[in-house]
Amino acid sequence: MRFSSTAAALAGAAFLPSVLGYPGMDKLLGELQDKAKRQDCCDSTELIGDLITLSDSQLSPVGHLVKNIIVGNASGESNEDYYNVPLLNTASCAADTCCIWQYIANTMEASFRGASGRCTNAARAAVRLGFHDAAGWSKSTGPLGGADGSIVLAPSEILRPKNNGLQEIIQQMQIWYNQYHGYGVSMADLIQFGATVATVVCPLGPRIHSFVGRYDSSIPAPDGLLPGPFDSADFLIDLFRDKTIQPHGLTALLGAHSTSQQRFVDTSRAGDPQDGTPGVWDVLYYKQTLGPKPPRVFTFQSDINLSEDPRIYPEFAAFAGPGGQQHWNEDYAREYVRLSLLGVYNINNLTDCTKTLPNAITTYVAADQWIVDLWVGTTIHLQAVADALLNGSLITNLLSLILGILLKVKRTVVETVATGSA
Ligand code: HEM
Repeated sequence: MRFSSTAAALAGAAFLPSVLGYPGMDKLLGELQDKAKRQDCCDSTELIGDLITLSDSQLSPVGHLVKNIIVGNASGESNEDYYNVPLLNTASCAADTCCIWQYIANTMEASFRGASGRCTNAARAAVRLGFHDAAGWSKSTGPLGGADGSIVLAPSEILRPKNNGLQEIIQQMQIWYNQYHGYGVSMADLIQFGATVATVVCPLGPRIHSFVGRYDSSIPAPDGLLPGPFDSADFLIDLFRDKTIQPHGLTALLGAHSTSQQRFVDTSRAGDPQDGTPGVWDVLYYKQTLGPKPPRVFTFQSDINLSEDPRIYPEFAAFAGPGGQQHWNEDYAREYVRLSLLGVYNINNLTDCTKTLPNAITTYVAADQWIVDLWVGTTIHLQAVADALLNGSLITNLLSLILGILLKVKRTVVETVATGSA
């Protein structure tokens, strides 16, 4: 909204050069107009769900908060804490909707945090699961699809090729659901809560506002609404716009690939990361997607296509630049609140349980990052390192020794070949 007024002001100023007319003024105004147009084109501010039809006077405190977050007037992050958590299975716990979520958060955290402090495969899969459940919705599907738990509850969804790799986290969600459903927990909430717990457990990740009270559905989400790793920028931008997510929001959400290690896009490179610090929620993904990047970093063609598009590039480069981490975290949190509520038509009646999330980790350097650096800098395939990273484990001395030897052997061979051919 605030960007629209900037654009309007600049559009109105378009005739000024002829009036003021000093050298370079045309160019400067042209650049400013382009910038304003880009901003106008690219920020997500559209209302969603029941917020579309409710007037401000009808909004609950949660309704107000969500509305302010998604139009850009409030932060999507929060450090709110939960004091004096009641004991499980007590009347006081039952009386506080958020109480059970504290126990769920503790259980999830244990499975999402690895010994190295990096987040685990389960954490990354939980973030992707949250995305795939919610993104099975578009403006033309209305109440069908969205953050409704159907990715687990409708067995046909997991058979869709774009959901490949989510089998294990779906099984895990089913286990947690069986454990907590008796406390009134829905699958839809469990999935979205899993995504926000996982995000904050990944070092440097934002602590995103997390709401509960969504309804479940076992009707499969409409097919064809998820992106593919070879899609063009035009296709992807239109696909996300149809979910009310504009290019800046898409740029922020894409950064979730900062933690990721692909397995199915190129199976011969299973475990290769999308930046040099897998399991860490940092902005290296943005830098290395723009290049240069070490040989083992595997960038999806779709991410390259988007990073080169003029509607995406400026924000992509801003995340990669100075102050990018804080900027990205803020934008990601805001956009994830929107994503996590697609297809939800009772936003006004949800409960804010952000206070139950683990604390954010705001500074982090892995003790074994030097080994990871060696590994991503070589094309030698060492499954043990990929696996240790997948599990969030600390890469052991033994592994680093093997890697060191292999690198030395490779160097010797290269030197011998070079000497022989000289
Ligand atoms: C242009 C849009 C996107 C495309 C084409 C895309 C595609 C993919 C693909 C192909 C994988 C690798 C799966 C594998 O081989 O194991 C992946 C992983 C992942 N994606 Fe995306 N994605 C997109 C957007 C997003 C968004 C918006 C999020 C989150 C909000 C996200 C979160 C993740 C995560 C966390 C992983 C790692 C999963 C794991 O390690 O198990 N992606 N994505």
